[in-house]
Amino acid sequence: MSVTSNVPRHVAIVMDGNGRWAKKRFMPRFFGHKQGVDALVRTVQACADRGVEYLTVFAFSTENWKRPTEEVSGLMGLVLVAVSKYLRKLAGEGVRIRIVGDRSAVSDKVRQAWEQVEATTADNKRITLIVAFNYGGRWDIVQACQRAISDGVPADQLDEQRLGRYMTMGFAPDPDLFIRTGGEVRISNFLLWQVAYSEFHFSDCLWPDFGEAELDAAIAAFAERDRRFGGVKTAPAETLAAGH
Ligand code: FPP
Repeated sequence: MSVTSNVPRHVAIVMDGNGRWAKKRFMPRFFGHKQGVDALVRTVQACADRGVEYLTVFAFSTENWKRPTEEVSGLMGLVLVAVSKYLRKLAGEGVRIRIVGDRSAVSDKVRQAWEQVEATTADNKRITLIVAFNYGGRWDIVQACQRAISDGVPADQLDEQRLGRYMTMGFAPDPDLFIRTGGEVRISNFLLWQVAYSEFHFSDCLWPDFGEAELDAAIAAFAERDRRFGGVKTAPAETLAAGH
C-alpha cells in the first residue's frame, strides 16, 4: 500500500535543545525550558492550523530524574505554570489535552493538575495535544503487558492489535511524522512501539527557536516521502506500459 498525504495526521516531537539555547545566552537551563513552553504553544497552534489532528511531545522522560535536583523541581514547577496558564489558554482554543506516562512518581499537585486539564478539555475537537510526562517507551510496553496479564488475556490471544490497545496511546493513531530538534539523531526511549512506520525528521534547530518555518520544513520533507508500510510501490499503468 502506498499512501501519500501532505499533512501528517499525527506528529510526535522530542523537544531537545532547551539547555543549550539558554547556555548560548548565558542564562540558566530553566530559562530554556520556560522558552520551550512558548515554543510548544506556538507549535500546537501551527499544527492545528495545518490540519494535524494529534501532536505528541516528550516533556519529561523516565530518565530525566537523573538531572540535578533543582532542574527536576524546576521542571515540575513549570508543569504547574504550564497547566494553569498556557495549557488553559490552549484549552480555550479547542485543544484536547491528554497526558501519558507513569503518574505514580509525580506529586499529588501535578497529578491533580493533569486530571483537571484532561477533564476540562475532554470534549475539545480542534487538535489533541498529548504530553508525555515521566514517560519511557520501554515503560509503556511493560505496563501494557502487565495490564493485559492482569486482565487475564490468554497468551495465544495477545496479538499486536490487542496489545496496542493497552499502550498508553491506544486511543490515538500511530505518529506519521517524528521530529527531533537539537541536533541529536536518536529516539531516546520515546515512542518505541508507535514509531514502527513513522517518518523521521531531525533538525539542528534548538527547541525554543522552533516555529512555523521549522514545522513547514518538516511537513514538506514528510510530503516527499514514499510510505509503503513494508509493501511495494505500485507503478502507474502508463509507466509500466512504457517499460520503466
Ligand atoms: C530537552 O532539552 C527538554 C526537556 C527535557 C524538557 C522539555 C520540556 C519543555 C519544553 C517544557 C515542559 C512542557 C510542559 C507542557 C510541561 P535539554 O534540557 O535536554 O536541552 P540540552 O540538550 O540543550 O541540554
